[in-house]
Formats: sequence, structure tokens, C-alpha cells
Amino acid sequence: MNNLSQKRILLGVCGGIAAYKSAELVRRLRADGARVRVVMTAAASEFITARTFQALTGEPVLSDWSDDRTGMDHIELARWADRILIAPATADSLARLAHGRADDLLAAVCLASEAPLMVAPAMNQAMWRHAATRDNVELLRRRGVQICGPADGEQACGEVGPGRMLEPQALLQALSDAFCSARLAGLKVVVTAGPTREPIDPVRFLSNRSSGKMGYAIARAAREAGASVELVSGPVLLDVPPGVQRVRVESGQEMLEAVLERITDCDLFIATAAVADYRPAKPAQQKIKKPVADTSLQLEPVTDILATVAALDHRPFCVGFAAETEQLEQHAQKKRLRKGVELIAANRVGNGRGFESDDNELLLVWEGGTCWLPKDSKARLAHQLIEKVASLYPQRSNKQISSEYHAKHSA
Ligand code: PMT
Repeated sequence: MNNLSQKRILLGVCGGIAAYKSAELVRRLRADGARVRVVMTAAASEFITARTFQALTGEPVLSDWSDDRTGMDHIELARWADRILIAPATADSLARLAHGRADDLLAAVCLASEAPLMVAPAMNQAMWRHAATRDNVELLRRRGVQICGPADGEQACGEVGPGRMLEPQALLQALSDAFCSARLAGLKVVVTAGPTREPIDPVRFLSNRSSGKMGYAIARAAREAGASVELVSGPVLLDVPPGVQRVRVESGQEMLEAVLERITDCDLFIATAAVADYRPAKPAQQKIKKPVADTSLQLEPVTDILATVAALDHRPFCVGFAAETEQLEQHAQKKRLRKGVELIAANRVGNGRGFESDDNELLLVWEGGTCWLPKDSKARLAHQLIEKVASLYPQRSNKQISSEYHAKHSA
């Protein structure tokens, strides 16, 4: 599976003979669809030019503070990255990272970034074995930095031992693996996404602004967490995420049928689609011609897919969304109980929020807890949502939620 597609990789290049291999790594990352930005140290420019990386990435390369034109470029870059890899990472760069230095651009970006950090050490074998380097590596490891390598073998200096940077293919694999958390390994997940179209006549329909971005990001994140994922999608203009099976539907009724066909052996159902609540009761068989005597449209309810799945005897763990313009938490809580689902992800919609945009913010509501996921890309929010779902699954395959609701609301 190519799970590097569209991933934002920040590659730090330090001054070592292995820097030439980083160019090949960038080429392979780009071939796999990753977006790559490069930050070089001053010492790296002694081994390879910024122009090489600029040509390979199609992006400007930052080497020192004078490249930080706005004074905030390094912060932007720190926020942009999904993951940072420093390859080659010299003994000096490991020491600087371990001690939180921020006096060169690469160290400052690493310090300012919340993205996971990976380093691929490359140095003379004696430097690698030195107690100071061992301590620095241990400190970084304890902080969650992933140490990739080094490999053993003949070194540029003629010595033999550990200190060779891993080959580009091995680093590519390490990056790819790093995006797979295995939190949902072995589970089958069904995700709905996008809008539905409810026909008025053969050429007109009722629909909404959903672009499918949120649902597709969730399908992708679930796949990257190791699940087998089926995506039931309304009409959108998005590519199928790698490794995900997609079925296209148009109307809410078609979406319901496609979901029910796939739900029997499903472990987790995530309803992200903006399904119409009502549809024209009597869609015309032929195009409606002007003038029409009666301009009103009679509507009938569309079956609630999420509530239907949640009411099944052998039901999966259910996650719903709530699109709200006000009172986010109150509406989300009510929706969770009314639909009988384990978790609701509520988002504010309208005025450019929620629908269509690349960013979102979510309030997660489950029994006994809430969690606010502040504004971020839909891709990152999807990963955070999947992490939360993985931590709650399986707490209860409830039937109790709807009785809780009826108990509260019939009183
Ligand atoms: O697609 P994007 O442009 O990225 O926008 C994302 C989004 C705003 C569409 C998404 O984040 C979102 O909020 N999706 C749910 C939209 C919605 O229909 O919300 P709702 O509050 O009306 O529905 C509550 C839940 O019931 C949802 O999980 C919905 O999928 C489900 N539902 C609703 C009606 C119906 N007939 N069947 C359902 O399954």
C-alpha cells in the first residue's frame, strides 16, 4: 500500500557524505506522491547544493535564517509537516536536538514542530559508539524520537562498523510504516462520505455542500491504522484513498442499501456523509416543464442510515457526525443518545465552516467524556478521531444508549 501519497514530509539534511543519498530519498518520496520540503544545515551545503533539492522537490529549500523571509517561515514549516526526518543526522545534529538548541534553522523547526521526528544517524563508527552520542540518542529515544539505523559496514573514512546511513529504500519503508499505527489492525470499517442527491426529476435534485473531504480523510486514516475499509460515497470529485474499497451511490436510499450490504461482518461504522433528511415524495419521471401549476415540493423522510445500523441486533461500534450551527455540545449529546451510537463527532457548519473546506474542528462526545480537537486539516483530525475510536473500541456493543435516552426524555 502506498500510504505516503499527499503526506507532508520535512526532510532535514545535515553535513555528511551520506547527504547524496538524501537526493535519491526525495526522488522516491515524490514518486510515491509525498510532498517534500527540505531544510539543510550550513554544513550540508558543503556536500550537496540546495538547488539539487529544489529541483527534486519543486519547492524552495531553506538553509539559514536569511531564507526565512517573513521571520515566520520556520514556524509555518514546523506546522506544515506531518513528519520530520533528518537524514543524514550527524553526531552534532543529534546533540543539538537532544539539548533543545534552536540557533540554526533546522534545529529551530524541529523544536517548534509537533510532528513526530525520525532521525537517520550517519557518522564515523567511533563517534557513534562514543558515550556522549549514546546518551544523546538515548535521550531522544526516550522523548519518542524514532532512530532509524545506522547500518553496519564499510565507512567513507575507511573504517568498518556502525554509522552508515540507512539506504533510501529502507528510510522510505520506515516512513511508510510510521504512518501505519496498526490501532485498527484486523478490523473491518465502513465509512460513509459526501452528499446524497435526491431527485426532483431526471435532471434536478436536492443536495448539500458536502465535498466528501472529511469522510475520505477518515477512510484513509482508518486504512492507515490497519483496518480494511469500505467507503460508501455520495457524488464527490475525490480520488479513492490508497487501499480503500469505494462504492459510489447517489441517493440516501442507495447509500442505505450499500451500507446494509456491507455491515454484517463490519466492526466499526463511521457515518460522515451528509445524507438528506428529506427527499421529494414523488420525483417526476420526465423533466418538469415551465410553467408549473404548483411550485411547492412535497417531501418525505429519508431513512436514517446511522440510526438503522445502530439498531441492528449484531451491530458494529457506531460513530456519527453532527453538523450544527449552534449549541454544539447539547445537540451532539442528544444526537448520540437518539441515534444510539458510541461516539459523535460534532462540527460547526455554515459560513465556510465544516462543509467544503480543507480544515475543520471537532468536538468528540461519548458516554462519560468529551474532547475538543482544535482547528486543523481534515487529514490530521481524521487521524485523531481514529485514535480516539481505537481507544474506546470495544467498550460496549450497546443497546443501552437508546434506553438511556428514552429514560431521560420520557420522564
Ligand atoms: O464533506 P465535507 O465537505 O468534508 O464536510 C464534512 C461534513 C460537514 C459533511 C461532516 O463533517 C459532517 O458533519 N457530516 C455529517 C453531516 C450531517 O448530515 O449531519 P447531521 O447532524 O444531519 O446527521 C447526524 C448523523 O446522522 C451523521 O452521522 C449523518 O451521516 C447521519 N445520517 C443523517 C441522516 C440520514 N438520513 N442518515 C444518516 O446516516
